[in-house]
Order: sequence, then C-alpha cells, then structure tokens
Amino acid sequence: MHEVVQDYYGKQLQGSADLKTDACCDISEVPEWLKPLLARIHPEVLSRYYGCGLVCPELLRGCRVLDLGCGSGRDVYALAQLVGESGEVVGVDMTEEQLAVAEAHRQWHAEQFGFDNVGFLRGYIERLEELDLSPGSFDVIVSNCVINLSPDKESVLRGVHRLLKPGGEFYFSDVYADRRVPDSVRNDPVLYGECLGGALYWNDFENLARASGFLDPRLVTDRPLAITEDTLRERVGNLRFFSATYRLFKLDELEPACEDYGQAVVYRGSVDNCPQRFDLDKHHAIEHGRVFPVCGNTWRMLAETRFADHFEFIGDFSRHFGIFEGCGGGLPFDQAATGADRTDVPCC
Ligand SMILES: C[S@@+](CC[C@H](N)C(=O)[O-])C[C@H]1O[C@@H](n2cnc3c(N)ncnc32)[C@H](O)[C@@H]1O
Repeated sequence: MHEVVQDYYGKQLQGSADLKTDACCDISEVPEWLKPLLARIHPEVLSRYYGCGLVCPELLRGCRVLDLGCGSGRDVYALAQLVGESGEVVGVDMTEEQLAVAEAHRQWHAEQFGFDNVGFLRGYIERLEELDLSPGSFDVIVSNCVINLSPDKESVLRGVHRLLKPGGEFYFSDVYADRRVPDSVRNDPVLYGECLGGALYWNDFENLARASGFLDPRLVTDRPLAITEDTLRERVGNLRFFSATYRLFKLDELEPACEDYGQAVVYRGSVDNCPQRFDLDKHHAIEHGRVFPVCGNTWRMLAETRFADHFEFIGDFSRHFGIFEGCGGGLPFDQAATGADRTDVPCC
C-alpha cells in the first residue's frame, strides 16, 4: 500500500482541489487566533494541504513536536510559530514530492518568522526507530489524516509511545468508520488514497490505542464526512465515515475506566487563547474559576502534563467512591434488585 499512497500524493494529486471526497480536506472552522499564523505560510504549501482536522493543541511554546506524515508542511509551519524560537518541529513523510515542497520553502518561512526551528525527515511512520530520533524526546506528536493510510497502525502507535516524553501527548486527526471496512472498499486504490479504505472502525482504534500503551483515548472533535463523487458513494454503500481528533496521553497510571476519588480542578484561565474555558476533550469543557469535579484519569491528564500550572487541584487518590458518574461505563448492575432472592431474572 505504501507505493499506492506515494503515487497518489506524489504524482496524481497536484493540490487540494484534486480530491474526490472531503475526507482529506479539512473544512473545520479555523479559530480566529490561528488565522494570522496560516496567513504567514507560503501559498504553495497551503495549496497542497490534505489534512482532515486541526492539530494545534494548546500550550506549545518551547515544545518539541513531531508531525507524522507532514506532507508539504502546512501544519509544521503553523506549529513552528506556536512552539516559537525555543521549540522545534520535525516533520516525517515517505513521499519525496511532498517533502520537496516543504523543504523548498524552509528559508522563506525562516525569514517570515525570524527563526528556523523546523526539520524534515524522509521515512516511514511504521519504522520511526530507523530515524535519528531519541526515545522519550517529544512533548507532543501530531498527525493529520495519515494513520488511516498506514498498513501497520499498531507499529505507528507503539513508535509514537516510545518517542513521547512521560506526560506527553499524541494529538491527531484522522478518518474512522462506523464499522469494519470490507475488503472491497479497502482494496480500492482511489478509496484508499482518499483516506477512506484504510480507515479503522472507531472501536477497533480505541482498543488498539489502549493495547499500545495509551490507556484512556480522549475524543476531542468529530464530524461526518461526505463522499462527493457518485461512483465512489456507490462503492462505499452503507459505511459511514468520520473525521475525528483524538488526544492520547502517555501516562502509565491511567486506569481502564474513569474512577471517582472525589477530586476536582479549578481552571486558572491562563492558557493562551482560552481565557474563559479550557476544552480538554469533547466531554470536558472546564470553565475558568469554577470547581469542576473530575475522575482520576482526567486529574492525571491535567496534573501530570504541561497543563499542570494552569489548574488548582482539589483532593487526592486516598479515597475511592466507585465509577465516575457520567464518564465511562457507569455501574453495570441493577441497583434496585439484590438478585439473591429474585426468581424472575435469567442467569446470564
Ligand atoms: C492525506 S496526506 C496529509 C498530509 C499532511 N498531513 C497535510 O495535512 O497536508 C497523507 C500524507 O501522509 C504520507 N504518508 C502516508 N503513509 C505514510 C507512511 N506510512 N509513512 C510516512 N508517510 C506516510 C503521505 O506521503 C502524505 O504526504
């Protein structure tokens, strides 16, 4: 599949307008604070953008960031401005033509920004250990519409886990299906190149993330995708596809479920561009100044990461109160019946 994908992104596509679906073409609303940063990126780089979401998480100043499948570098050059002169962004891609565009404009961007803090490496995201990158050396790893194209997603996730610092995060946008993708769709080169054929069923992805060491995957945003070409829509049938952004923290003590220790946090309102509210994920919009009850995992995602200085923390892990209500699975047992003296319930 590597050759099919290299041919698609290196030779067949000349720009975003050549795409046949909106899978690899991000239509999310660009936040106001990001617009001036994108305005400083070279037009040729912008015209070859094939991402499906926004991969600019909060609080990046001074961070070392890796972009997997960076393409012609739009996100690398946006992130370069966010990490600033004291940070660094490394882009990895396997397609020569994509990297050539990214490299060609490196000096131009250095002059725009007043510093050169980016680097590009040619390589495969399944074999990150072959690149000269030290384990545990990245604060944040991003990727935009790439993992679906990989024939070995487990190796990608394990490599990411290895390269992240403890408390670091993989923040990435990708394409997912509402069910397992049949071979007829998977083996279609256009559907594969368009980021649909290789998409994972979302629940298989979440289980794979857990098995790769990311114990509590958090969904940040999602949107349904449209297949604009009639012939492709027919080939896809009833499958539904979504673009979604997840954040996966490398925190070894996260638990399989959201457990309640009676803890809470208070957001100080101090993260850049988020004075009123900090959105950890789709289900945690944390208002400035308000006591916000959290499960043990959410606590760790705030207390043991780069976000720690921006919160006050109430409580600890000394008392357990059961599963955190409204977060995770909830108590699976019927609370009304004791079970032992009931005769009307089946055994399984
Ligand atoms: C849909 S494009 C997205 C590019 C870029 N992230 C962007 O937002 O414009 C997918 C990119 O991933 C790269 N890619 C796909 N599979 C890869 C792999 N296994 N290893 C390295 N790069 C890969 C392709 O060469 C292509 O540049």
